[in-house]
Amino acid sequence: MRPVSEHLLEQIDGYIEHLFVPPDAVLAQNLKDSAAAGLPEIAVSPVQGRFLYILAKITGAKRILEIGTLGGYSTTVLARAVPESGKVVTLEFSPLHASVARKNLELAGLGSRVEIRVGPGAETLDKMIQAGEESFDFVFIDADKPGYAGYLEQVLRLSHSGTVIVGDNLIRGGGVLEDVPPDELVAGVKKFNSLVASHPRLESILLTTYKEKVDGMSVSRVK
Ligand code: SAH
Ligand code: DHB
Ligand code: MG
Repeated sequence: MRPVSEHLLEQIDGYIEHLFVPPDAVLAQNLKDSAAAGLPEIAVSPVQGRFLYILAKITGAKRILEIGTLGGYSTTVLARAVPESGKVVTLEFSPLHASVARKNLELAGLGSRVEIRVGPGAETLDKMIQAGEESFDFVFIDADKPGYAGYLEQVLRLSHSGTVIVGDNLIRGGGVLEDVPPDELVAGVKKFNSLVASHPRLESILLTTYKEKVDGMSVSRVK
């Protein structure tokens, strides 16, 4: 057996991408325009994006909530997974990121299916809960990591039995194995992982993923 190394993981990821992820001019343009606008290059990978797309399709999701839009890469794959009458509501703190995403989503022909709400995610979620907004079938949590645990509790108030909740960046290159987290980012995901693992309203698993380093995504079903 080949010894496990970052290099091997990268090769395996390339193997999977080559086999399972069709070349995609729209997503390539999204990354190019996002980088040109100076956005950080932290979108999900092509393989991770494919995973989100397939999961959202299996769920039969018509209404999707995303926390953390960036340039709209993951938003694009999620919007493609809902029917034309479906909707993706995506929350973003940065007006610049939101404007880049809006442009990218229009170019992708998905503008009418996506609503970007600009502001701190926790505040937007509170407003949505107070307004009695219709529940979501699928949720992707991918914004500031210290906020994750709070987002989970808010998201549960916008969910129904069967809602699928996915969280990103939950392994952080193995950083979560440290008893004393090296930074508030790892501390945030460790707290989220403990919460999601034993939450009375959820059945969950955490899968390892790869993008430049070993990372992880949780998949939960609301009871
Ligand atoms: N889901 C995207 C990547 C998101 S990166 C993709 O895979 O394509 C994380 C995003 O969360 C950044 O755009 C950042 O500006 C945003 N963010 C950070 N803090 C936030 C907050 N408090 N509320 C909402 N969004 C926030
Ligand atoms: C990083 C990666 C992400 O996917 C994200 O949502 C936030 C940060 C990172 O690698 O720093
Ligand atoms: Mg992420």
